[in-house]
Order: sequence, then structure tokens, then C-alpha cells
Amino acid sequence: MTPELMEQGARRLEAYQAAQTVRVGQTESGGRQAGFSRLATPGEVDITHGRILYLEDVSVSFDGFKAINKLSLDIAPGELRCIIGPNGAGKTTMMDIITGKTRPDEGQVFFGSTIDLLRYKESEIAQMGIGRKFQKPTVFEQLSVFENLELALKTNKAVTSSMFFRLDSAQSDRLAEVLHTIHLNESVRGLAGNLSHGQKQWLEIGMLLMQDPKLLLLDEPVAGMTDEETERTAELFLSLKGKHSLMVVEHDMSFINTISDIVTVLCDGSVLAQGTLAQVQADERVIEVYLGR
Ligand SMILES: Nc1ncnc2c1ncn2[C@@H]1O[C@H](COP(=O)(O)OP(=O)(O)O)[C@@H](O)[C@H]1O
Ligand SMILES: [Mg+2]
Repeated sequence: MTPELMEQGARRLEAYQAAQTVRVGQTESGGRQAGFSRLATPGEVDITHGRILYLEDVSVSFDGFKAINKLSLDIAPGELRCIIGPNGAGKTTMMDIITGKTRPDEGQVFFGSTIDLLRYKESEIAQMGIGRKFQKPTVFEQLSVFENLELALKTNKAVTSSMFFRLDSAQSDRLAEVLHTIHLNESVRGLAGNLSHGQKQWLEIGMLLMQDPKLLLLDEPVAGMTDEETERTAELFLSLKGKHSLMVVEHDMSFINTISDIVTVLCDGSVLAQGTLAQVQADERVIEVYLGR
């Protein structure tokens, strides 16, 4: 088989995988290396046990203060899980632990049933398909929307040499699909700096989507958005559900109400309650520590 044929095959595989509800393998795409390694990546996420993320008895202390305290939690593939809880509950720290930014003192963190995330560096975890959105948008204001999305592929240095980078047809298709998903078709040539706050947040989500993450962690994504932007973000998240697994930390209860199935309430570094929003809102302990204040 010629290298060209093999590349075509790799691209077909990529297109096939993109069509699956739950995706497997590395899907950063671009370049021969990615196409080939995808076929036999030892780090593929095993979701046969119905869990994409699994935390058990995780604890971490900062100067003797237990920010995370025996936290156990799991997320199903394609699930959109909402996390609520008072300030200082440990929500951001939990995301730091999942993404390898902070190492827990004890406990287990698994991606699927076989990948022990505590063995990997932050950059490796990102490459495995765990994307993270911090609260502040970090788009490149002096570049166009298109260039920002393109850059999201280029920054994956392990896969592509950015010097000779050119979007292949699968990547172009992906970019078009992402543009559509984040409702920025009409601004594609405009500078990111000219977008509204909400649009910048969507662009940043789009940049994460370019890497086709299996799990997306979103920390207070609608903070600072207008009501209309918040509604569109809810639609966006609902459209991502099923294709990706999402963990969304928010304080905006009407937003949570629109998007949530199961809500987990964190308090003092562990799970205080879990259930539908109505169930946790009716929970006396939740009212006391969070909602009732
Ligand atoms: N790197 C750190 N060093 C020291 N304390 C920290 C660090 N990160 C978080 N904390 C503390 O851990 C607790 C949980 O913080 P955080 O995870 O940011 O809560 P949340 O996101 O739920 O508001 C807070 O008391 C915070 O001050
Ligand atoms: Mg936080």
C-alpha cells in the first residue's frame, strides 16, 4: 500500500469516527503520525464499563487545609453533568486534579476504566482528549475567528509541525462544522477581538472542539454573559451532549435548569448531594450550605 493510500484510509477512519456518537482514539487529526497511531493507541479510552471519568476517594490539602476531601464521582460517556456548590467547595480544584494541574495526595482518577490519569502530565492529558475551559476567555484577539480555530489544531505540536501546517480536507470539514456549532459563521473573517464576551467564550469552546475532546470541563462558562448569550450557550451545550461528555460548573440556576440531567453538589471538597436539580434544591443540607444563603 502506498503512503498516499494509507493516508486516505486514515482520513476515512477519521471521518467514520467523527460520525460516531461516542468517539474512540485520538482525534486531534492532522498528519500521518496521528492517523497511524490512532489505529493502535495503547491509551484509548475504554468506556465498556459505562464510565468516561471516575474519581474515588480523592483528597488534596493546601497547607493543611483539605480542599478536596475523599471525593468520589463518576461520569457516563455522553453525559452532561452539572456541578454546583458554594465558593471554596473545591470545584475548580477538582478540575485541576482531573487535568493534571494539581496532584492529589490520595485517591484514584481514571479516564475510562484503564487510563490512570495520575500517571500523566497536564499536556498528555489534554492530548488524550480532556479539554478544559477556564472562566476567562483566552482567544487571540488580533487574529480572526478562522485563524483562532486553525491555531487550535496547530498548537498540537506533537501531531503536526506548524511550519508546514495546512488544513487537510477532514480538518477543513471539522472547522466548518465547529463554526456552525458555535454560531460564528458570519464572523469567521472578523477579528476575535471584535466579538462580544459571549462570542469569545463560544470561540474558545470552538477551539477546544477542534481537538475533538471526549471530555470537556467547563468552569463557570456563562459568567458575565447576557441572558440571550446564556440561552444560546445552553443550546450549544445541549447539542454537544451525547457527542462529548461534559462537566459544567455553574452558579446560574436557570442555566443549570435548562441543561441538567444530574446535578452534583460539592461542599467542603466532597459530594454533599446528587440528583435532579429539583431533588437537590429540595435537600435541606443543600439549602443550608448553598441555596438558602
Ligand atoms: N493552589 C492553591 N493553594 C492554596 N489553596 C488553594 C489552592 N487552590 C485552591 N485552594 C483553596 O481550596 C479551596 C477550594 O477552592 P476552589 O477549588 O477554587 O473552590 P471553588 O472553585 O469551588 O470555588 C479554597 O479554600 C481555596 O482557597
Ligand atoms: Mg472555582
